[in-house]
Amino acid sequence: MKSATEASDVQQELLASSRQIFPGGSSGLWRLPDEYQIVVSHGRGSRVWDMAGREYIDCILGSGPVIIGHAHPAVVAAAQEQAAKGATYFLLNEPAIRQAEMVVDAVPCAEQVRFVSTGTEATFYAIRIARAYTGRNKVLKFEGALHGGNDYATMSTTPPRTSDYPHGIPDTGGIPPQVQDQVLVSEFNNLDLTRDLVRQHGDDLAAIIMEPLQRALNPEPGFLAAVRDLAHEVGALLIFDEIVTGFRLAWGGAQEYYGVEPDLAVLGKALGGGYPVGAVAGPAAIMEVVSAAIRGTPRYVWMGGTFSGNPLSAAAGLATLGVLRAEGSFARLHAIGDQVRAGLEDLGREFGEPLQAIGAGPLLQVFFGEGELRSYRDCLHTDNDKRIAFARELLRAGILTNPGEKLYFSLAHSDEDVGRILDIARTALKTVQKKNEAG
Ligand SMILES: Cc1ncc(COP(=O)(O)O)c(C=O)c1O
Repeated sequence: MKSATEASDVQQELLASSRQIFPGGSSGLWRLPDEYQIVVSHGRGSRVWDMAGREYIDCILGSGPVIIGHAHPAVVAAAQEQAAKGATYFLLNEPAIRQAEMVVDAVPCAEQVRFVSTGTEATFYAIRIARAYTGRNKVLKFEGALHGGNDYATMSTTPPRTSDYPHGIPDTGGIPPQVQDQVLVSEFNNLDLTRDLVRQHGDDLAAIIMEPLQRALNPEPGFLAAVRDLAHEVGALLIFDEIVTGFRLAWGGAQEYYGVEPDLAVLGKALGGGYPVGAVAGPAAIMEVVSAAIRGTPRYVWMGGTFSGNPLSAAAGLATLGVLRAEGSFARLHAIGDQVRAGLEDLGREFGEPLQAIGAGPLLQVFFGEGELRSYRDCLHTDNDKRIAFARELLRAGILTNPGEKLYFSLAHSDEDVGRILDIARTALKTVQKKNEAG
């Protein structure tokens, strides 16, 4: 056993190394603020521990996948059992087939499934499928929607300023102008604008891709169905990016929860229960474009890779879905989200702060601002500094969160966790107010 000082020294040494060997000191897209930087040692249930032995309530959950909690015994057992039989085959295997059956059982639009390893790949392929299927080029997305890191998706995901619709702002260097020109950007919950753009570009529109719950912004009643009708009016496909909402808002995802069926669904995160996976699911008539049987024809879509149908991810995913499928899981996930959202908004009222905790099911995002939040532009007008300051206070007190972004909850979060989160939020809000008053 290491002493607390030794453990803390190991963490410091690893952090110093990470700053040297990872660009920007980060293993991915973002990093915790310097003063809260940790190296994770392990996770269990709703908790994560750092290398120095400090315990946190985890509201990051691996950016969403860990929906039944860290190291759930059923998932650990399934992964261990599969690992002992081999990690990957590049061939049909039972876990992948059973997982695909589960997707078809759950997701209303799903008749067939193709697995990949990440959400970024899955959205990229869904858009390619739509192009090949319709013989068209353009894709419409909504400002502020996140669809991963591929060239078509990284347009106006987190633009620092607004642009003139339908022109987007690239989130990254390296996107050829020819690709940028194929992406139209509209405003979430703005049906008039979306209708105009869809009708204007209808002849060359392959797909509308959207997060049905855009980040934490809820669709207004009727919006999703109207977008689907518009897509179909011009012969385009509607793609729901359900990487966050799939197996989270309901067994059948957002399409079940909101009652609107898209043409294609993109899945990831919860589907693998923490192990890498992405998927595109849809009717056989569309999905057949990825079948090797039509290779060599213009409609054929190359989709897949080394880890497509990986048995380890599938076994862990299946175990996760098995737990989620049990009676009462989604009611519980919604109850946790509802409690925290209501508790935070109560605190806002108590402290005279315009705190809005928006979202659905077991995820929420906090904003400080008056007025209804219907789209990304509305959120741009809220108090960003206060949002970040509040999140940093949560972090300081031991709630893991990507500052200012969504908080995720799992089946492992207990009522005690909810109480603790709200207690910490109360202190955090008090501190933020005090600092603001002090100028
Ligand atoms: C809605 C949505 N789509 C796509 C992605 C990309 O998935 P991945 O990070 O697995 O590439 C994400 C990731 O956060 C997401 O939230």
